[in-house]
Amino acid sequence: MEPVLLAEGISRKFGSITVSDNLSFSVGRSECLGIIGPNGAGKTSVFNILAGVIQPQSGRILLEGADITQRSQSQRTRLGIGRTYQVPQPFGLLTAYENVLTAAIFGGGKSGREAGDFAFETLKRCGLAARFDLPAGSLPLLDRKRLELARAMALQPKVLLLDEIAGGLTEAEVGHLIDLILSIKAGLAIVWIEHVTHALSAVADRILAINAGRKIAEGAPAAVMADAAVQEIYMGAILDVPSEG
Ligand SMILES: Nc1ncnc2c1ncn2[C@@H]1O[C@H](COP(=O)(O)OP(=O)(O)OP(=O)(O)O)[C@@H](O)[C@H]1O
Ligand SMILES: [Mg+2]
Repeated sequence: MEPVLLAEGISRKFGSITVSDNLSFSVGRSECLGIIGPNGAGKTSVFNILAGVIQPQSGRILLEGADITQRSQSQRTRLGIGRTYQVPQPFGLLTAYENVLTAAIFGGGKSGREAGDFAFETLKRCGLAARFDLPAGSLPLLDRKRLELARAMALQPKVLLLDEIAGGLTEAEVGHLIDLILSIKAGLAIVWIEHVTHALSAVADRILAINAGRKIAEGAPAAVMADAAVQEIYMGAILDVPSEG
């Protein structure tokens, strides 16, 4: 089956810093690809390249088989690439509902009654129906994460990019977030960057590990987490290498 999103040989440098080094990966419908890697590995830069914020110096990005490498950020949003940000970016003085409504209107292209109903439905889906009328800035962290997700979902994306959405949450809150992401996964292609690796392992079908913009491992979560190169670079673990014979 054709992947929803395909990145082929993406490369990008900023001066001497390589953020993406001939990186290829794909994600299919109802699938979640996890991305891990140390701070500064180039994870958010990958999202910026997928979302059209920065241009790759080589490589291409295909959405449902169509090359979108030259498309602008707003075109890609309309074509179905939604994202949440590492630092949530709600309009703090607007209510949760108004935030999602704004996304449904300006990103999702909806209007009138339809936009209102859809915004409320999306809030409900993301567990925020009871707090629809509270200013976004007054919400506790887990609800701000839910709102960040709801704003991205209001665009009815085909591909959902989640950048460290579990960061800063308690264990119990991470559990709620896992349930929420599992509940919206069907029909979507999700790419999830996360340092909270047990959360990622609970949701991701595959994990891609990168360092200095380069792929160091890819596969089933357990296999990638156990990979020697991943353990050495990502966890800083010193491993005994089994001797031969
Ligand atoms: N627009 C830019 N101009 C110059 N350098 C950049 C730019 N964007 C990112 N970088 C640099 O590229 C490197 C990778 O940054 P990136 O934000 O992709 O890392 P990351 O893997 O998301 O890290 P973290 O886990 O800390 O979020 C960093 O050294 C960063 O300073
Ligand atoms: Mg980042």
